[in-house]
Amino acid sequence: MPLRVPPRDPRTQSQGVEPGYAQTARRWPSQPLQRRPHTVSELSGPSSVLRRLAPVRGDLAGHGAKRAIGQLIHLRTRVVDEDGAPLPGAVVEIWHCNAAGKYIHPNDTHDAPEDPNFYGAARMVAGDGGLVELRTIKPGAYPVPGTGGWWRPPHVHFSVWGRVWLSRLVTQMFFPGEPLNEADAILNAIRDPEARERCIARFVPSENDLIYEYQLVVRGRKSTPGMP
Ligand SMILES: [Fe+2]
Repeated sequence: MPLRVPPRDPRTQSQGVEPGYAQTARRWPSQPLQRRPHTVSELSGPSSVLRRLAPVRGDLAGHGAKRAIGQLIHLRTRVVDEDGAPLPGAVVEIWHCNAAGKYIHPNDTHDAPEDPNFYGAARMVAGDGGLVELRTIKPGAYPVPGTGGWWRPPHVHFSVWGRVWLSRLVTQMFFPGEPLNEADAILNAIRDPEARERCIARFVPSENDLIYEYQLVVRGRKSTPGMP
């Protein structure tokens, strides 16, 4: 008999269509969902992902004359399953804007300076304990065009590759104590306050470094919500 997995509380995941965030209407189905059996297309996965997409850059901050502008931070992410068990070997992609709120992307029209020493993307493999460590700079806030004053709070984008194509998690991590978190349409599309809290990294006091810890839960009732 198949194991019965309790359904997730929808309040712990992103609300489908979010007022004030126009793109969500295009990303969410307008018709009721249909159950469809999985075939090999869904149940196979990127087994050679690391051969095709080699790990790159555990350090986005650089050093000396090549140091990116901004506050140096150490981001320690732990990838775990629904029981909190670590997932060593998980492939994790991370990207974020520079300290002025600018991405290296042609669609980014925000009038903010680029930083020649900041590339902004990394691909890493979770080590023992499911740990992924990134040395980088804290990203800045940026305005969302055409929204009349919505500024995205500082955040970091994550993509985690699972064992099958359907098990990819794309999400965002936020920083604690940021006033823009309170009004962010993406973060607040998650209605459950505890689930929102799980999307915010924890600041770890340290003598020399700004350290943030973050836990990515890839499945289960407390799974990290997907975010664009
Ligand atoms: Fe972003």
